[in-house]
Amino acid sequence: MSDTAILDKESPAAPDIPRMLGDADFELVKSRAELSNGPILEIGPWLGAVTFELAQIAPVTVVDNFFWSESEANAYPGISEPNGSFRAAFESHVADTPHPVTTLEIDASDFAWDDSESLSLLFYDGPRDAEALHLILRQISKALSAEGQILIKNVYGTRAPAIGAYVNALLGASICELIHTDQPNWCNMAVLKPSSAWADIDSFETAADAISTTPLPQSFSDPWFGQATSVMRLFWLAQLGNWGASFAQLHMLPVHTESPTLFDEYERFLRLNQTAPEMAAVFSVFRQIHHDTALRIPTTDRIGESVDLRLRRLWDTISPELWESEAIDPRQAFSNRFEVLRAALASGFAVKVAGKSIAILGPLDQALEILCLICGATKVISLMTNDPLSEGDFLQTEQLARQPVEDAKSDNFDLIICIGAQERLAALQSDQETIQVPELSPNIA
Ligand SMILES: C[S@@+](CC[C@H](N)C(=O)[O-])C[C@H]1O[C@@H](n2cnc3c(N)ncnc32)[C@H](O)[C@@H]1O
Repeated sequence: MSDTAILDKESPAAPDIPRMLGDADFELVKSRAELSNGPILEIGPWLGAVTFELAQIAPVTVVDNFFWSESEANAYPGISEPNGSFRAAFESHVADTPHPVTTLEIDASDFAWDDSESLSLLFYDGPRDAEALHLILRQISKALSAEGQILIKNVYGTRAPAIGAYVNALLGASICELIHTDQPNWCNMAVLKPSSAWADIDSFETAADAISTTPLPQSFSDPWFGQATSVMRLFWLAQLGNWGASFAQLHMLPVHTESPTLFDEYERFLRLNQTAPEMAAVFSVFRQIHHDTALRIPTTDRIGESVDLRLRRLWDTISPELWESEAIDPRQAFSNRFEVLRAALASGFAVKVAGKSIAILGPLDQALEILCLICGATKVISLMTNDPLSEGDFLQTEQLARQPVEDAKSDNFDLIICIGAQERLAALQSDQETIQVPELSPNIA
């Protein structure tokens, strides 16, 4: 143990308690704790090495389930029986500290805190589970002082993407603020303090809510003036299958020179190219376009000829709001249906559609919606003839609406695209120009 582990150089040497934290993390926790002026909460104390130090400074409450796994028993023989409790070992290590240690032997997901018991610091090194962390922050939201500190392990790096994504959401919503420290960049701990909207933490039922709905932070999200947790959050949303939310967030990511490296690092780790190869490829194209404004292309009078060109048009066209609705699947831009439509439409089509509000009459046709949007339609309104419509078929965004044909208002659009011959066309009683496109084949995606 290093000399600096002994806070009071006059007192007996600190016991040699095994710990998982590396020296840099350990020093960081101690130095932040020295700045605090009240009770401390530690989630996941393990054998008590950090607890021992914290209890030199202030009263500490710890939360742990004290479950000693077989792998721990193999790595640290003689401490406890495999699959038994290591509480006794923990208590023996913190038996003689200047300030009391209160032990709560519970699962982190059962944690509750009395608002009247104030706290000055939380150190979280418990389960790598964003929901457990969120519950704890909600529970202590009133007890943590305005100057309080929140130290969370495993925020940076690739070990716990959900924790990184969640902390990013807290920063984006101004619930917390990052405290800059001089920690080295192999230290993966975030040091936070409550920020202007701290009380809002309780408005998020789950961590997942916060991760998918709050904006990205506009300033740095790691202590090295980078975007580590923002990039992690984009990938985390993608891994959950929330590609639309991920694209919407990517749209809002400030462009920084170092982020392509972060993307490469996390992309490799999350292996999206194996679990969802097409979407991962689309994501790569989008992030490249996003980071290279020179790649933006002007509106053309042709329907995107190459997949690459279509994806660029999609990226420049679709608003974050529409991505967020999860109604757009970018793979439709390279589907068979898209090719059928492109072959069938006359060369002047893109010019006709640009700047217009377009009604599409027929069954839901996502490829046609996308085609109209990338040709510059200001709005696409799918007047759907599917019967019955499911709840997910209804949509109202600035760029795209989906509604039953019965609700059509003919003064809403400038041009109608009819999928095959539609009897309903007459009922629309509109005198706008109509273009007919081939029917959707059941065999064509
Ligand atoms: C990574 S260790 C903490 C290491 C410690 N900070 C150190 O440096 O020695 C994680 C701790 O969280 C505890 N833990 C893990 N999952 C838990 C859960 N669901 N509820 C309560 N405690 C849990 C473990 O028992 C362990 O003590």
